[in-house]
Amino acid sequence: MSTDHCTPTEKGGFEQLESQLKVVTLDEFIKLDEKQKSLIPKSRRKKLERLLKEQERKEQKAKERAQTLEAERLLKLEESKKIKIEEDPSLPVATCIKIRDVKRYVDRRIAVQGWVHHMREDGKKLLFIELRDGTGFLQCVLSDLLCQTYEALTLHREATVLLKGTLTADERAKGSFPGIELRVDFWQLIGPSPSEIENILTHESNPDILLNNRHLVIRGSRTSTILKLRSIITQCFREHFFDRGYVEVFPPTIVQTQCEGGSTLFQLDYFGEPAYLTQSSQMYLETAIASVGDCFCILPSYRAEKSSTRRHLAEFHHIEAECPFINFEDLLLKIEDLISDVIKRVMEKASDWVLSMNPNIRVPKRPFRRMTYEDAIRYCQENNIYKDEATKMHFELGDDIPELPERKMTDQINEPIFLIRFPVSLKSFYMKKCEDNPRLTESVDLLLPGVGEIVGGSMRIHNLDELLEAYRREKMDPSPYYWFTDQRKYGSVPHGGYGLGLERFCCYLLGLYHVRDVCLYPRYKDRCKP
Ligand code: 4AD
Repeated sequence: MSTDHCTPTEKGGFEQLESQLKVVTLDEFIKLDEKQKSLIPKSRRKKLERLLKEQERKEQKAKERAQTLEAERLLKLEESKKIKIEEDPSLPVATCIKIRDVKRYVDRRIAVQGWVHHMREDGKKLLFIELRDGTGFLQCVLSDLLCQTYEALTLHREATVLLKGTLTADERAKGSFPGIELRVDFWQLIGPSPSEIENILTHESNPDILLNNRHLVIRGSRTSTILKLRSIITQCFREHFFDRGYVEVFPPTIVQTQCEGGSTLFQLDYFGEPAYLTQSSQMYLETAIASVGDCFCILPSYRAEKSSTRRHLAEFHHIEAECPFINFEDLLLKIEDLISDVIKRVMEKASDWVLSMNPNIRVPKRPFRRMTYEDAIRYCQENNIYKDEATKMHFELGDDIPELPERKMTDQINEPIFLIRFPVSLKSFYMKKCEDNPRLTESVDLLLPGVGEIVGGSMRIHNLDELLEAYRREKMDPSPYYWFTDQRKYGSVPHGGYGLGLERFCCYLLGLYHVRDVCLYPRYKDRCKP
């Protein structure tokens, strides 16, 4: 269309288009069709065509170079198949060791097996491997022919290898034992790992991808340290209990009773009969005290928690203990002793690791602050901790204090708190009532800063009639509980106990945000894999 025949408006539009086309970039030019290109002022069009040709020429050259490099790589790979390395029989026999023991073997010939944690080439004649064997990390150096074999050229992270060589002091070496490296003289590939390993997990991977690939995430140094610390922490709990004369017992986790209310029970079909996954082993521990005295167990408990918060799991490890012939004060002292002693034991075994994760952790000072439920309600009222943040509605006596406000209060006070004497209406059927006030229970939650409730415990009803009355009050059918009721018939005794969530305790000690982070494979709503 000639501009001479345009209306003023069309002409104005054309001029605008023409001025826009004057500044068209090469990328925009490539996308235009022939008709649009013909509208570009001639000198500009010529320049863009020249630039385009130049770009196409460069692309072709880069393609050819890539092809040449690929051909060279394939040729090199083919050639590398001819390189065979052999162990020199004149060398001393290599002693098989774990990386944790390297310090004892400096200047000696050793063999280690493990996973390639990281690798770095330095020219064609040097390959540095950071080897991981679960006990530590070791820098290993492969030189000359050792890093020119087919296996070396196709080696990727997470492959498994056997390395033999001499442990040598070298101040440049990194790893769990800085200053020591393995100068490899012979090696073998045990299990290869394809190059795609580099793309499965990246710094941009979202939490779902990380959780779907948790089997790979746990190979990372931070997660493996957390898993090892969890093992040490569990060991310290066991040592505490054994040291104090407790016996470990092993109750079943498939049960036909409920302990902590019906709303969070996982039901299952047990050979045609209804059964549940246990919420707590407490009631079985109560029976075991008449057999072995003070006892404990460390077993999974299950809760069908509908909400997924940072401290709730569907499956968690429950450390539970039960003691006969004690009163409420004894129970509080036992919990205080447990927490302080276990933290002390963990610090004795692994303070370096713990402090690297949580530099501020200290053994809490005793006695722990005690606060009645009534005091807590008053504290919230006086410190603007609301039942409903939106409407600024205050808590009233009788209200349950949910997770968020409870944590707010604990974080403000910033020390362990024994929250005691909860109303009967808020607690489980089995809890003993306070002698001075039958509306309250001899119950305790231990709250720790950063996490909130870690322990729940109580004295138990030991009077038969009171227990029968509790069943009635809670509208529970007493028949499946016959064995629990029998405890109150045949030699009843004042007794009490508690349950501690291991994952929450680990989060407190290691300064972690989420209970999922301390699980090998966490289970919570919408997550049951891997
Ligand atoms: O307060 P809870 O529900 O108490 C009981 O189960 C008692 N029968 C225990 C007993 O007296 N033997 O749970 C005890 C602790 C909580 O303080 C918390 O640390 C942990 O178990 N816990 C959970 N941890 C992770 N995810 C969940 N869904 C948890 N529910 C309880």
